[in-house]
Amino acid sequence: MTDSTSITIGYDDGDIDTNGSTGGNSLNALIDRRYSRRAALLGGTKAAAFAVFGGAVLAACGEDESKDAGPTITAGSSGETSSGRVVTLTGSTSNTAGTAQSAFSQVSGPPVALTQGATGTTFIAPSVAAATMLVFRYTATDSKGLTFSTDTSVSITPATLGFAAVSKNKLDVVTVPAGYTVSVLYRLGDPIDAATPAYKNDGTDTSYATRAGDHGDALHWFGLAAAGSTRDDTSSTRGLLVMNHENINQPYLHVGGATNAGGVRPEAEALKEMECHGLSVVEVTRSSAGAWSYVQAGALNRRITPLTPTVFNGPVKGSNLLKTAFSPTGVAGRGTINNCANGYTPWATNLTCEENWAGYFRRPTATDNALRTPREVVALTRFGVTSASGNYGWSTVVPADSTNTLYRRWDARVSGATATDDFRNESYQFGWVVEIDPYDKASVPRKRTALGRFNHEGCWPSNFVVGRKPAWYMGDDAQNEYLYKFVSATPWAEADATAADRLSIGDKYLDNGTLYVAKFNADGSGSWSPLTFGSGPLTAGNVTYAFADQADVLANARLAGDALGATKMDRPEWTAVNPVSGEVYLTLTNNSSRTAANTDAANPRAYLDPPSTSVSNRNGHIIRLRETGDTSEALAFAWDIYAFGAGSDLDPTNINLSGLDATNDFSSPDGLWFGRSSNASGKVTPVLWIQTDDSAYTDVTNCMMLAAMPGPVNDGGVKTVTNAGRTQATRVGKAPGTTLRRFLVGPIEAEITGVDSTPDGKTLFVNIQHPGENGNPSNITSHWPDTQATGTAAATIRPRSATVVITKNDGGVVAL
Ligand code: FEO
Ligand code: CA
Ligand code: CA
Repeated sequence: MTDSTSITIGYDDGDIDTNGSTGGNSLNALIDRRYSRRAALLGGTKAAAFAVFGGAVLAACGEDESKDAGPTITAGSSGETSSGRVVTLTGSTSNTAGTAQSAFSQVSGPPVALTQGATGTTFIAPSVAAATMLVFRYTATDSKGLTFSTDTSVSITPATLGFAAVSKNKLDVVTVPAGYTVSVLYRLGDPIDAATPAYKNDGTDTSYATRAGDHGDALHWFGLAAAGSTRDDTSSTRGLLVMNHENINQPYLHVGGATNAGGVRPEAEALKEMECHGLSVVEVTRSSAGAWSYVQAGALNRRITPLTPTVFNGPVKGSNLLKTAFSPTGVAGRGTINNCANGYTPWATNLTCEENWAGYFRRPTATDNALRTPREVVALTRFGVTSASGNYGWSTVVPADSTNTLYRRWDARVSGATATDDFRNESYQFGWVVEIDPYDKASVPRKRTALGRFNHEGCWPSNFVVGRKPAWYMGDDAQNEYLYKFVSATPWAEADATAADRLSIGDKYLDNGTLYVAKFNADGSGSWSPLTFGSGPLTAGNVTYAFADQADVLANARLAGDALGATKMDRPEWTAVNPVSGEVYLTLTNNSSRTAANTDAANPRAYLDPPSTSVSNRNGHIIRLRETGDTSEALAFAWDIYAFGAGSDLDPTNINLSGLDATNDFSSPDGLWFGRSSNASGKVTPVLWIQTDDSAYTDVTNCMMLAAMPGPVNDGGVKTVTNAGRTQATRVGKAPGTTLRRFLVGPIEAEITGVDSTPDGKTLFVNIQHPGENGNPSNITSHWPDTQATGTAAATIRPRSATVVITKNDGGVVAL
């Protein structure tokens, strides 16, 4: 037993644990240990603390506040780490019999939240733009009330990517970097109410309106308070995931695959397939031990499907184009379909985007064109409403209730006397951005027609600035289509962020404004052209298509873009906005119809990528723009290309223009998202996440997700590439090098789709879409997610699209 005069010197080494920093065995650490030992050998009552930075001892401070004997304390060695990482402070108190209490407090530097844990006091290194010192004081009070303290310091440097790249692979699991854990959260078929039975996954399951849908795509986190259904934007432990269910792996949904006897689909099969589309709103929580799960009976859990009632808002509401036998006034409709990427609003609603809707409709042109006006044929053809059968043949169903038009609606042929006698206009009810209030289960989704109609991939907002009109950036995903932005007519007012009636705030910002389409000029400039009826070629006098009114311009946005001379892009997918700079990124996933004869500066490559034998942009690229004056209201911008997809074995002069290597080569970028500005991954130099939907590089690797820390637009230069037989000048950003790194590789035949994090950045949610999509019940090509735990699963197990959770084992911000 020690007493107050027999002093044992506390001694710790490596006390500041940066858990993931590569500097743990650095010279600094060795110096720390030597000086700590020396302090120990010197003995006495002097408290010890050392500040070591950059290899030099800058300070050795520590005052004994009493000459009397008492507890001896150390606050460990000082250290250095970077933003977003976990720092553990350990202090020790010797001669403990006399010690009443001890604790760390912060003396200086950006304020951090100190958490007392089993191994010490921890905090997340705050976001800094330059090296910044934080000083902490370890204070002990003995039983006589005497206080002793000593200081230690931690130098924080700006955030960097803090993981080792994952290797390309073709395993049937999700692979993440060392130091990270992936777990499966929410799978196709998981029940979302108490009454629905567990999923058998053998093709016999029903009731998909109360189960997770198929093909999870974009997702977004909406925080919930610790209890109840109250919105809490700061929560990182309880929330709602709103996710799209874009499409289906049809064969696996039925016992022996889909059936079609006599050319007629069974009603039960078609209903199941329809209900697997749409969205989920599902509650998820983190336990105190750190494990995530979805809440089967969550009060706000909800499926929105192609059967869910919807209403139309904005300029196209009530237009003749929207009138059908179900909706004779053109103000309402049923459901949403092929929901791909997403967006959000600061008033906490979700924007879901209808992408490849055209193919769901049955309209054989050979018979139907003759029953249409020439204008109608131009419009329907431009949007591809030309399928002879419609995806999955839903319109062939003969329903038990003959008055049920849920199946007949997919038949877009002219069959009745007028447009309100049939579903010739049903395709006009799709192709919109739809706003959903996740906190109100009874709310009716609103289709926001002011944002135009096309193959909406996503709808990502500009940064919000009080008094400025906000914008949403939107890709139209098909070959040679356009990039759009919608600028609200209403300047942003901060109070609207917390209004109770969220969808009425949506009316205020999303029903009035101007839709623009982008032109990318060869000199690195660009411009936005308004889709405003009566302006420029958007009149009844337009030769290709005589525009009737603003509703017609918006509903036929592609024809308006054509007339305005917009730049034909290599399949515009997701947009993402840098939360610091406001720069806008756009994935251009690939374009098999790009040839050397029709490249342009913004879509500059047409090349051969074996084993393909056709010249095209096989691997895609990521373009970015900076609005003039850094305002969402700008009519002009500057652009360059952030990164070109390519295998690292391809020609570095003309194809692998971003110098990708084995740690970061990728193909067909699709999902794109910046870390949230509420944590270090979205500050200073925010992390950009890139997800692939690839079929070009799949001879080498499954689809993947990468993390990057891009520099600004125009950090590179001008370059001329030689395509097959023709040169093309373009603008290439600085080669990303190690600032672009592969973070995840998915399972077999899967695409990596949605991504979001909790506000604290410590939990990442990622959707894994259509594993085993090329198989069927008699030839199952993936068994994921059942393979995730061990790498294998029984050969009879069918694959399921699913959401995974990724956390850093030390609790730090993911990727940093
Ligand atoms: Fe649904 Fe364009 O990806
Ligand atoms: Ca997509
Ligand atoms: Ca896709």
